[in-house]
Amino acid sequence: MDPTKISATVNQQTWLAPIEKALEALSDKTIGAAPVIVSNFLHGTWLGHPLHAAITDVPVGAWSVTATFDLVELLSGTEDLRFAADAAANLGLVAALGAAASGLCDWSKAGKRARRIGALHALLNISSALCYAVSCWQRNRENRAPALAAGFTGYGLLLAGTFLGGHLSYAESIGIDHAQRDGGPKDWTTVLGEGELAEFEPRRVEAGKVSVLLVKKGTQIFAIGEKCAHLGGPLSKGELDGTSVQCPWHGSRFSLEDGRVLEGPAVYSQPCFAVRVQNGEIQVRSAGDLSD
Ligand code: FES
Repeated sequence: MDPTKISATVNQQTWLAPIEKALEALSDKTIGAAPVIVSNFLHGTWLGHPLHAAITDVPVGAWSVTATFDLVELLSGTEDLRFAADAAANLGLVAALGAAASGLCDWSKAGKRARRIGALHALLNISSALCYAVSCWQRNRENRAPALAAGFTGYGLLLAGTFLGGHLSYAESIGIDHAQRDGGPKDWTTVLGEGELAEFEPRRVEAGKVSVLLVKKGTQIFAIGEKCAHLGGPLSKGELDGTSVQCPWHGSRFSLEDGRVLEGPAVYSQPCFAVRVQNGEIQVRSAGDLSD
C-alpha cells in the first residue's frame, strides 16, 4: 500500500476534525497544565527513546495472548487457558492507559498532517480498549460468549490502530531521530570568521554535509546540530536561555554544552561539535575525535 495515499486518504477525512479538537482540548487540560517533568516522562525524554513506542508493546502483546487463547478455547472447548487469557486481557487494559497518556503527549507536539492520522490511530485504539473493558467485565461475570466476542472485536480494532501507528513512525517520521548525525567534518573546518559571530546570537553555519548552530557566550563558543532531533526544527531561530536553546517549533530545549535534551518533546540529544578559533577563524569538527 502506498504510504502517501494512506496519509492523503486519512487527511481527507474531515469527520476526524472534531476528534482532533477533543484530543487537543484534553491534552491542553491535562498534559499542557502539568509540570514539565510529567510531559518529559510521557515523551520518554528521560529514556532517550519515545516512551509510547515502548509501552504500546504491552497491550499489543497482552491482547495477542488473549486473542490466541480465546481462539483455542473457542475451537477446542478447553477451559484450561481461561485464567491466562483473562489475566492478559486485564494487563493489556492497564497498560493501555499508559499507552494512551504517552500517545496523547506525543500527538500534541506532532505536525498537522500527522495529527489527523494520529487522531484516527487514537480513535481505533480507544475503541479497542473499550471493547476489552467490556470483555474483562463479561469475563468477571463468567459470560464467555460476549466476553470473547468483545475481545475479538477489540483485537481487530487494535490491529488497525497498530497499522496506523507504524505508518506514523515509518511514513510520517514521528518518533524518529531528525538530527543530522552523519556527514559532519572529521577534520577542523572553517565555518565563520570570529568577528562575524555576535555575542549570544544563534547562528547557523554549514560544516561538511550538516548544519551547525554556533552560539558565542563570553569567551566560549558552543556548537551543536542545528536541525532539531524532534522534527527537524531550526534551532538557529530558537530562543537562547543561559546555556540552552529552545526549538521554535515545539519547544524542546537542549543544552548548548553537550546537546542533551533538557525539555521534550525531543527524546534524542543534539550532536555536538568540537570548536576552536584559529587565526581569527571559527573551526568545527565532529566531536567523535577530540585529539589534536
Ligand atoms: S522540531 Fe519539534 S521541538 Fe524542535
